[in-house]
Amino acid sequence: MSLRASLLEEAAKAQPKAYAPYSKFRVGAAIRTASGAVYTGVNVENAAYPEGTCAEAGAIAAMVLGGETEIAEVAVIGDSDEPVPPCGGCRQKIREFAGPDVKVTMMSRTGKELTMTVGELLPGAFTPDHMPEHME
Ligand code: THU
Repeated sequence: MSLRASLLEEAAKAQPKAYAPYSKFRVGAAIRTASGAVYTGVNVENAAYPEGTCAEAGAIAAMVLGGETEIAEVAVIGDSDEPVPPCGGCRQKIREFAGPDVKVTMMSRTGKELTMTVGELLPGAFTPDHMPEHME
């Protein structure tokens, strides 16, 4: 199995664990890091709707907890007939830890796939490179 296929499989395995009682739209995300480790996340909603968090944010939190900060590839799967793209906020969150050439594969519930780079999803991004004096 290819690295991409196994990353999609991890995202799909996580997806049913999503806590999405309000939207009923379950999302699973998986991140492979430069070390080859895989971190997954799901969306976690809240009765105070804006407090919910996306699957990608959960996977990023798990990655950081794992001591890693270099994203090599991302996979996202959602309850949609079309491949589910990361929301705007998640594009920014991913870009913090991924260069513009990193690939994001999005998958629908029917298995339809779309792969785009982080740079295509978020052109002209504001990144840590803009504030090097603040990075340790
Ligand atoms: N959602 C994600 O978790 N990731 C995405 O890429 C798109 C949207 C979640 C947020 C919310 O819980 C639900 O999907 C509906 O917007």
